[in-house]
This record gives sequence, C-alpha cells and structure tokens, in this order.
Amino acid sequence: MGRVALVSGGTRGIGEAISIALQAAGYAVAASYHGNEEKAAEFHRATGIPVFKWDVSDYEACVAGIARVEEQLGPIDILVNNAGITRDGMFHKMTLAQWNEVIGTNLNGLFNMTHPVWPGMRDRGFGRVINISSINAQKGQAGQVNYSASKAGDLGFTKALALEGASRNITVNAICPGYTATDMVRAIPQAVLDEKILPQIPVKRLGLPEDIARCVLFLASDDAGFITGSTLSANGGQHME
Ligand SMILES: NC(=O)c1ccc[n+]([C@@H]2O[C@H](COP(=O)([O-])OP(=O)(O)OC[C@H]3O[C@@H](n4cnc5c(N)ncnc54)[C@H](OP(=O)(O)O)[C@@H]3O)[C@@H](O)[C@H]2O)c1
Repeated sequence: MGRVALVSGGTRGIGEAISIALQAAGYAVAASYHGNEEKAAEFHRATGIPVFKWDVSDYEACVAGIARVEEQLGPIDILVNNAGITRDGMFHKMTLAQWNEVIGTNLNGLFNMTHPVWPGMRDRGFGRVINISSINAQKGQAGQVNYSASKAGDLGFTKALALEGASRNITVNAICPGYTATDMVRAIPQAVLDEKILPQIPVKRLGLPEDIARCVLFLASDDAGFITGSTLSANGGQHME
C-alpha cells in the first residue's frame, strides 16, 4: 500500500481504533496526542505506531509536528482530524474560555492540521481528509452550544474544501458518530446514560470505536473516490440526516 496516514488524537478512544484499523489495512500510520503521556506510551508499546505530541489548536505546533511526521514516514496522504474536546455547560453559565477552548480545538484544529498538508496533496494529486464531527452538530444538544457549533463548523469546512479538492483527486468527508463508548462518554453519569441517552438509540447500545474506524477505513480507500463533501452518520439510528 505505502500510503501514509496521520490520525490526530490517535492514541486513545475513537482515534486509537482508527489508527489500529488503518495500520491493519497496510497504511503507515502516525498518531498524535495532546497531553496523556501514559496512554500514548502504552498505545505505542502495544501497536508500534509512532506517536507525536502537539496541540492541534496551535497552528505553529501543527506545522512543526506535521514536518516531524513527514520526515519520519513521508508525505501524508490521509489525514484524519479526530482530536476533539468537550467543555460542557448551559449557555447562560458558559464562559468565554469554555467557548474558545472548544472552538480552538474542534474547529480551528481542522484549519491548523489540514492547511499544512493540503499543498502536498494538491501537488501529488491524491488525498483523503476525514473529519470526525458529531451527531450533536446535526441535532444540537443542550449544554453543548460550543461543541455543537464547533462540530457544525466542521461540516461546513468539509463541504467547501471538498469542492476545492475535487479536481486534484482529494476527497474531504465527515463522519458524525453518535454516542460512542470512550472516555468522553464515560464522563457522563451512568444514570444519565441509562435513563436519557440509551433509550434514544434504536439499536440499544452505544457505538464502539471500531464502528467509527470502519467508516474511516472505507472513506480512506480507493473505493470511496466518488464520495466527497459527504457526511456519514454512524449513530445507531438516533438521528437521521
Ligand atoms: N465519544 C463520543 O461519543 C463521540 C461522539 C461524537 C463525536 N465524537 C468525536 O470523536 C472524536 C474522538 O472522541 P473520543 O471520544 O475518542 O475522545 P477522547 O477519548 O477524549 O480522546 C480524545 C483524543 O483527542 C486528543 N486531543 C484532545 N485535544 C487535543 C488537542 N488540543 N491537540 C491534540 N490532541 C488532542 C486527546 O489527546 P490526549 O490523549 O493526549 O488527551 C485524545 O487522544 C472527537 O472529535 C469527538 O468530538 C465523539
């Protein structure tokens, strides 16, 4: 295969499953992370996948980090923008810091990570950019005005950039996971999950990180070359769009 894939936030949760699936399919994979050294080291030991630390909300750090990845693995063919955070709170109590952190990571992060790899994809005439958005971009969620706005921004980014990439054989797509069993969802109290969230999911279970990884694998493949600017919902039937 020989193609190089970079997965942001690729050392745990959904990103970990994406990194592992891409590696198993024959891609040369790099996984980035932000601050959880212990988990990144454990992931590297278990998979052999090289890990790189930087903050996706910092443009200069992304430029430098991507240069390090390309030096080690070669030009990036597949970029999975998976790193994301929540800083939940009802809007009337939401601080500017909560707003800025979420927009900085979840939305600005897409600019910061994609801008440095885009010229190379254009020059080589191939690329795949896969953005992990969220069901809550599509349907909205109380307590997540910042998160829903950032993730809906990711969908606009996806569609506009897809138009720019199309003539260069670069596809840009988004995936909207529903509630998926990772640390992000484990932060939700069990009673809220059992009483409020699970009853809304027709398949009656949380998503698994591997459910999302299989979507990424498909969108990264040559078989998906006709699919660009699309949003793939993977949410157990909770929201249909
Ligand atoms: N879980 C869900 O139910 C769900 C549903 C819909 C969408 N999503 C989206 O799916 C993506 C993955 O979610 P997850 O549940 O797997 O999250 P997670 O378990 O909390 O993992 C988040 C990953 O992103 C990295 N990260 C966070 N902020 C970063 C930053 N500023 N710079 C670089 N890396 C950063 C983390 O690095 P460290 O390990 O170093 O902290 C970690 O590797 C996110 O974009 C999330 O919004 C999740």
